[in-house]
Amino acid sequence: MLVLGVESSCDETAAAVVRNGREMLSSVIHSQIELHATYGGVVPELASREHLSRIEPIVREALDKAGVDLSQIDAIAVTQGPGLVGSLLVGVCYAKSLALGLGIPVIGVNHIEGHVYSVVFENPPIKYPALALIVSGGHTNLFFVPEEGKYKVISRTRDDAAGEAFDKVAKMMRLGYPGGPAIETLALKGDKNKIRFTRAKISDGRPDFSFSGLKTAVARYISENPITDDQDKADLAAAFQYSVVQTLVDTMERQAQELNPGTLIVAGGVACNLALRESAEKAALRLGLPVYFPSKHLSTDNAAMIAAAGSYYLSKGEKSDLQMTADVTLRLQNIDTETNLTGKRKRYRT
Ligand code: KG4
Ligand code: ZN
Repeated sequence: MLVLGVESSCDETAAAVVRNGREMLSSVIHSQIELHATYGGVVPELASREHLSRIEPIVREALDKAGVDLSQIDAIAVTQGPGLVGSLLVGVCYAKSLALGLGIPVIGVNHIEGHVYSVVFENPPIKYPALALIVSGGHTNLFFVPEEGKYKVISRTRDDAAGEAFDKVAKMMRLGYPGGPAIETLALKGDKNKIRFTRAKISDGRPDFSFSGLKTAVARYISENPITDDQDKADLAAAFQYSVVQTLVDTMERQAQELNPGTLIVAGGVACNLALRESAEKAALRLGLPVYFPSKHLSTDNAAMIAAAGSYYLSKGEKSDLQMTADVTLRLQNIDTETNLTGKRKRYRT
């Protein structure tokens, strides 16, 4: 079973060919980082225009690299949401038209579910139930996954996503966009214990995340303590990064103790961060559990993860109908494959 994946939810135009849900034959990503860097963040109009001009050659390149012809593709999986509406629409319209022309199914995939599937290529099979921490620029969620395709939200962010906090703090520190890699590099030279940021407390006791308080604390620190040299800057980066990592991993560890999963998953753009990986690995060791990460190429947005998630639904005989459209509010929670994702996405058995 060959699935062509298409991803265009934010600032990466990507296509990939995946065989039988686990074998990545190709994965091509065109990042728009340079285009948006001068503005310090993603400009939605520019992003959708760029997707429009890139999508066709990127798909062609993915097919060429995989050594397959369009006629061999069994289905097209495309990111349906969440994301930027103009960007999502480019991928969704392209995928639906191509699928219609080829007479093959199209499968709308939740981008966040895609991130969960990013670990399937380079790790042993997931042992369910799993606990999945998905940390990216747009999302920060901890999911309990009792079995493949079913998700229960355990923790969500009340305000900023973890990656968004990295990006905003990097902007305050004039480190450029995207902020995550810049802060990580700087933090390597810093002392995380020089500055202590207090951890956000959620008043209703839910195990949710909150990063906007930390962002404000960094802003206040910068205004009260003018950064005079590179060492101060590195110490600040290290203390901020440590605070984010501690919050994420502590929550995951505590929930793992309660929920007894068989596998831990850490994925999404922020999973590129080595401090997060090391901390999650230590927690996994304490818990006696395996932890799966995607490699760097598969941590940030890509289409292989979308094709893998789509392959699962295809193998169950499910596909989207042609009314399927971009849905910026698509949520991933309590998925029951007998019904559908959110009650909004229509799937039917073939
Ligand atoms: O998954 P992704 O490519 O896009 C979304 O779905 O949002 O994640 C992008 C986010 C950005 O906020 C970026 O700053 C963050 O991932 N990121 C990192 C690192 N590399 C990327 N955050 C921390 N450390 C990194 N090394
Ligand atoms: Zn993403």
